Amino acid sequence: MPNRPYIVGNWKMNGTRAQMAEARAIDRGAARHAGVRVGIAPPFTLISTMVEAVQVLIVGGQDCHARISGAFTGDVSAVMLKDVGAGFVIVGHSERRSMHGESDADVKAKAQAALEAGLEVIVCVGETEAQRDAGQAEAVVCAQLDGSLPREEGVAQRVTVAYEPVWAIGTGRVASPDDVRAMHAAIRARLIALYGDGAAAVRILYGGSVNAGNAAELFAVDEVGGALVGGASLTADSFLSIVTAADPALD
Ligand code: PGA
Repeated sequence: MPNRPYIVGNWKMNGTRAQMAEARAIDRGAARHAGVRVGIAPPFTLISTMVEAVQVLIVGGQDCHARISGAFTGDVSAVMLKDVGAGFVIVGHSERRSMHGESDADVKAKAQAALEAGLEVIVCVGETEAQRDAGQAEAVVCAQLDGSLPREEGVAQRVTVAYEPVWAIGTGRVASPDDVRAMHAAIRARLIALYGDGAAAVRILYGGSVNAGNAAELFAVDEVGGALVGGASLTADSFLSIVTAADPALD
């Protein structure tokens, strides 16, 4: 793995200020694993508070608007995230794509806005179960990469890809190591086609029902550079078990 493993918690629409005790515990735990890069994307309402409460965790947003400011009721821009201390933003999560109708072009515009604001960006891709059953998983994911990834010179350094099969998110079902290996290899090939030598800097995370029990097996797969974790990132106990499993010092 060319990069330090990267473990990111996606809290989705979970967490009030009472949850900050967990964030502090995660932060203290992450400090014991210098070999792992650890981030959390809490709801917008907690970003500023979390930035002030933690030492080593990188705090990020779960989405951003493609514009800097304007009449977009309810939206938050990448510049605003940067302003409160966020280091990254997730774009193109399947819940955004399906529930908010976001297209690849929308996702790309958001990713570009994030990069312009000085954030890192995690671009999510993944096939549905029907697409996998139809033998289209790799084609779907490669098309999402082509349509969603920003291509400007030098941006690859700040781009992470998260492969999250839709059928594995929040279901307790996890892709088999062989399927993950094949998909991550296909993604790496696509990244090389898009970014050339710059592709080496791009981590490919796996996401979808990652937990303490399956993390080590997933991290042993070639080209798995870490994980995007939903449900299991909400408590320090379960999230830190995943961080521990990723620590190369403990191999
Ligand atoms: P999950 O969510 O770990 O709860 O399956 C992952 C995600 O949606 O990023």
